[in-house]
Amino acid sequence: MSAFLVRGGRELSGTVRVGGAKNSALKLVAAALLAEGRSVIRNVPDIMDMAAMAAVLRELGVTVTADDDVYVLDVPSEVGNSTPAHLVKRLRASLVVLGPLLARCGRVRVAQPGGCNLGSRGIDMHLSGLERLGATITYGEDYVEAEADRLVGADLELPYASVGATENLLMAAVTAKGTTRIMNAAREPEIADLAAYLTSMGAQVGGAGTSQIAIHGVTRLSPANHVVVPDRIEAGTYAAAAALAGGEVKVDAVVPGHLRMALSKLRALGVEIDEGDGHLVVHGPLRATGNPRRLRAVDIVTLPYPGFPTDLQPQLLVLLSQAHGSSMLTENVFDGRFSVVDQLRLMGADITLEGHHAIVRGARLLRGAPVRATDLRAGAALVLAGLVAEGETVVAEPHHVDRGYSDFATRLRALGADVERTDLH
Ligand code: EPZ
Repeated sequence: MSAFLVRGGRELSGTVRVGGAKNSALKLVAAALLAEGRSVIRNVPDIMDMAAMAAVLRELGVTVTADDDVYVLDVPSEVGNSTPAHLVKRLRASLVVLGPLLARCGRVRVAQPGGCNLGSRGIDMHLSGLERLGATITYGEDYVEAEADRLVGADLELPYASVGATENLLMAAVTAKGTTRIMNAAREPEIADLAAYLTSMGAQVGGAGTSQIAIHGVTRLSPANHVVVPDRIEAGTYAAAAALAGGEVKVDAVVPGHLRMALSKLRALGVEIDEGDGHLVVHGPLRATGNPRRLRAVDIVTLPYPGFPTDLQPQLLVLLSQAHGSSMLTENVFDGRFSVVDQLRLMGADITLEGHHAIVRGARLLRGAPVRATDLRAGAALVLAGLVAEGETVVAEPHHVDRGYSDFATRLRALGADVERTDLH
């Protein structure tokens, strides 16, 4: 069994450089399916989810050459249209091949998605949107099939600003006949990044990043090159680590404008953050002077962008456990995303759950304990908790963290943390 071994009490300082956004890169490589030829995607993060997505693309006949942070994708004239169940179950994000494959091949079969266990994660909005564009959807035992001779543009109203549904429908619409409008579209920066890549392929997309996206169908697309937008969630995770255990940490290669709400909440907690061109400097509790700056209790509500990101929720729960006073964190995006709470309680956190609210009574001393990563962001949050816990924390099932963070232990160690990845027998 491998684990993160964290010994608390060390002060973080130095610079950490953030990689390309996992939640953009996964979709960009799927979008490459829309055009025969060679696309080159740069600033791709070196994470397990990308390796899983590369495996899906290879099964579809794409030659994927990954060299450092560059993915060279050679897309053949004929691509497969059925994603292997074992790969889709491993990676929910692979569902995002649905739109491009339907647009490219007129028929696609995907296994029912897997991925993080964040409660029920339907795909109804993806499928009903594709039906509005003219697809026929059929359901098998453990797969979904979509067919369409030709997709026809339509007005699509998303009942909820779903990121994945917006992306799938955007990619299905770029070669549909006529105009498609996606209303109540997701506004995450990764959507604008995808739209920028599609536009460079020859698509006609307007309004990406707002809640109304208009797409005028074109007959064909060409391959293109693209640089993945920086990962705002990885940046926020390191900013939270610095807020817990810094000294002074520079988080480099970020777009501060993509973290407005997260930075606003960190500042409300009492964290001092300077913003620069493409970087943040986070000043944590001044342990050096023996006079730790007190973190203040703050209420947080997760919402679709530009609201507070659910992907930073577990990390902020750790900060709230250290803040003086009681905070309430309300999780509106996923109904199963409080699994980290049980683990934080094992370390001494005082958190009460009431439906989708977590009431955190702060300034509790955390004690190192054997805990378990239950999903990607919960695992990262437990490592952060270990940074300020007394004694040693063992975070089992670290593979969850590897899905979205490259070299997490190495990067934290480079900042002065006592964190190692170990194989426990
Ligand atoms: C994306 O997931 C991200 N994953 C998630 O990041 C992120 O938390 C989420 O967006 C919200 O920002 C990737 O981009 C690979 P949604 P996605 O569609 O697309 C429900 C991480 O840690 N829903 O906006 O699945 C769904 O069940 C991951 O990096 C339906 O009910 O998010 C969920 O409760 C975790 N039916 C909510 O909407 C649908 O058809 C948000 O889902 C679609 C969604």
